[in-house]
Amino acid sequence: MTLSQHTFLNSQSKMPLIEALRTLISQKNVAFHAPGHKQGHGIPQSLEKLLGKTVFTADLPELPELDNLFAPSGVIKKAQELAAEAFGAENTWFLVNGSTCGIIAAILATCNPGDKIILPRNIHQSAITGLIISGAVPVFLNPYYDPLWDLSYSITPNALKQVLEENSDVKAVMIVYPTYHGICGDIKVIADITHRQGIPLLVDEAHGGHFTFHQDLPPCALSMGADLTVQSTHKVLGAMTQASMLHLQGTRIDPQRISRALQLIESTSPSYLLLASLDAARQQMALYGKELLDKTIEFANKARQQLSHIQGLSILDLKEPFCSFYYLDTTRLTVNITALGLSGFEVDKILHQQLGITAELPMLRHLAFIISMGNTTDDITKLIAAFQILSNSYFSPHSPISSFPHLPIPPSPHSPISPRETFFAATKMVDFNYSLGRISGDLICTYPPGIPILMPGEKITDQTLEYLKTVLALGASVTGCSDSSLQKLKVLV
Ligand SMILES: Cc1ncc(COP(=O)(O)O)c(C=O)c1O
Repeated sequence: MTLSQHTFLNSQSKMPLIEALRTLISQKNVAFHAPGHKQGHGIPQSLEKLLGKTVFTADLPELPELDNLFAPSGVIKKAQELAAEAFGAENTWFLVNGSTCGIIAAILATCNPGDKIILPRNIHQSAITGLIISGAVPVFLNPYYDPLWDLSYSITPNALKQVLEENSDVKAVMIVYPTYHGICGDIKVIADITHRQGIPLLVDEAHGGHFTFHQDLPPCALSMGADLTVQSTHKVLGAMTQASMLHLQGTRIDPQRISRALQLIESTSPSYLLLASLDAARQQMALYGKELLDKTIEFANKARQQLSHIQGLSILDLKEPFCSFYYLDTTRLTVNITALGLSGFEVDKILHQQLGITAELPMLRHLAFIISMGNTTDDITKLIAAFQILSNSYFSPHSPISSFPHLPIPPSPHSPISPRETFFAATKMVDFNYSLGRISGDLICTYPPGIPILMPGEKITDQTLEYLKTVLALGASVTGCSDSSLQKLKVLV
């Protein structure tokens, strides 16, 4: 081990937030401060039965020893500095409201009202909230669509180059890397193109928090030149749900503006359970990330290999780059089940209700599974066995392959009005069938994965209505709209 590795591991073994909480808990001061349960003494019995009391002893407010999330100078500052070092950033912010608040802050920090930002059309809905709050105007790029898998990926360098030529006044570019299904575009070239324009590249890396820690995973976005990345530490690493991080490097984005933006949108009572879980998750990855991911990748490879031999299944792979998509996160397992004659939603139900397996994301033709450090070899065996049962029950070489419609996300029509103006505009509900040609007042997403199908301010087209009708009929759920049955849509008056 080199001296610098030794120094790194030595500093990374520390957990300032965990240590401060441990000290405070042992002091047993009499509490006359929030939260009202006073370290678990006043919790309802039902909660104690479910969770025990221990976790509540660390549910403390911003006491002097615990620093302040919005003006960090003590243990939060130290913990964030350690995270920056571990994840290869210059500055890191701990987030207690998921990547959602990081993505909103990234837009608020780079765009003034009326400024243009380039985004892929299949961006997560949190970016639309960012547009509404900031007043930025989206220039949407249609993502590359893979008809074989019926999957939308992300934007290509060529498409970005072209839209930048047509919009030289754009202030930032945001991309999703990796996609929900683990596909990673040519981020290095995308960063170069963006930087040549003198503007920052913001990366929704919600599903890529583990990339930094293993050479067999796709490269992390910061190492490829991204200026800002937002990671859901809770999705693939060991932090608690909602605990996430925003990382920054370089000089294209003002760190003060990130801090101000986060202060606008996060709670003034951040949960120390979440913050401590970020501190511990960072330490775990810095010290043991390589070994943990060795095992995770091995499990994922075993699942990929064995499932691909089961009749009726195929596994999303990327042996060679295609259309500027270079890497696949192999720990994200996408299983195509169309040859079983069932939809992904039907398979999901059977897996969950009858076979004891719960997937991350069912779609029409396939289901995605997250394989992470929390999985065991037994889990992988059960997953393979469950799919074997499904194949035995439903696959027949003679049965026709399900002929589901292909569902590329409808292209974005020109929006006459920005998401922010739409949010504050007068609206009314009209019958779904009479909404054609009107301007949508709603953000409508199919969930999961929370990708907007209709944006606030967009003209409602035939294609969008057809898409919504089809996905509803096929069993997806739709969120974000005022009438979730979609009998009526909210439109501008
Ligand atoms: C691509 C993508 N970005 C952002 C988010 C929001 O992340 P969080 O749940 O941490 O707020 C999600 C959540 O599913 C996502 O899939």
